Amino acid sequence: MTKADWRRTIRLAESGEGAGWAVEIIDQTKLPFVFEIATLTHMDEAAHAISSMQVRGAPLIGVTAAYGMALAMNRDSSGAAIEAAYDELLSTRPTAVNLKWALDRMKAALLPIGHNARRAEAYRLAGEMAEEDAALCSAIGDHGLTLLQEIAARKGGAPVQVLTHCNAGALATIDWGTATAPIYKAQAMGLPVHVWVDETRPRNQGASLTAWELGEHAVPHTVIADNAGGHLMQHGQVDLCIVGSDRTTAAGDVCNKIGTYLKALAAKDNDVPFYVALPSSTIDWAIEDGLADIPIEERAAEEVSEMSGLTADGAVTRVRVMPPASPAANPAFDVTPARLVTGLITERGIAKASKAGLAEVFPEKAKRP
Ligand code: MRU
Repeated sequence: MTKADWRRTIRLAESGEGAGWAVEIIDQTKLPFVFEIATLTHMDEAAHAISSMQVRGAPLIGVTAAYGMALAMNRDSSGAAIEAAYDELLSTRPTAVNLKWALDRMKAALLPIGHNARRAEAYRLAGEMAEEDAALCSAIGDHGLTLLQEIAARKGGAPVQVLTHCNAGALATIDWGTATAPIYKAQAMGLPVHVWVDETRPRNQGASLTAWELGEHAVPHTVIADNAGGHLMQHGQVDLCIVGSDRTTAAGDVCNKIGTYLKALAAKDNDVPFYVALPSSTIDWAIEDGLADIPIEERAAEEVSEMSGLTADGAVTRVRVMPPASPAANPAFDVTPARLVTGLITERGIAKASKAGLAEVFPEKAKRP
């Protein structure tokens, strides 16, 4: 992988000792200041890459876990190794359901086949999931593009103003992103777009990742403090919000990065359409009540009490931003109730955020009454 083709965010090494089996990722903890590839050679390294957020974003977490299983099979293809890798990888992060979705799929494919076939099958299936995710995100882009086109048609050449939260971009997926896919498709066809990028405290995925990748694509964008979105909406400066999701229930409740709910409230109050872009691998068909049933990751207090950034002499450093004795809490996700969501942009089209709406688009997945 090189910086020139970064949008394929996970792949097998093509040269060197790990050619054909080691897994290359972008170390997202280093962005936006340093672009660095990390090579994973062991399942433990894949688990660490997910828990330390070298890779993050629901779809990319899932595919990294799938490759983690392949790395486990590279060393030991016993049934015990499958179970151990499943448990270790599943414990890395609790909220994004794509992780379990990917691991369940790997386990179901590997356990019934002979030991000798498992290694090759694990790599094949992980690769297939990566390809699939890229195709799903591209399809999400096509469906979301229609929304941008409708707004553009009304605006007579003025840019369509999109607000997004966190990073649901190519960096969070295998290619295209979910929330960014319609934006990249619009940009490619010459539709004027401008993106308001929520900085997304505490880890700043908006400021450091979304802004970076929009910059790489030359998409006009402006980073705003998380608290600015409501004000912009009140003043007619946001045409629509598009965010991603880590887990969406069968009834359309959306769990996403902390702060998403507040944007949905502000959007509702200002009649700004609030869309969520997600592949079906992010839908948890087993649950309906997002507030009751989705585990919310609580991350380290230091992510709130400290920030990192670039100093004037070019070094990246961390600083404390609050009194040393004050405690901090860090819930990493929140749930936006379906009633605040205008629509779910999926690979099959735009669904209403409701049980009936999702069942209409994914009839084979919805539970029968
Ligand atoms: O904690 P993160 O950075 O993994 O959270 C990411 C998000 O909340 C994204 O919006 C979500 O995973 C969707 S990615 C297409």
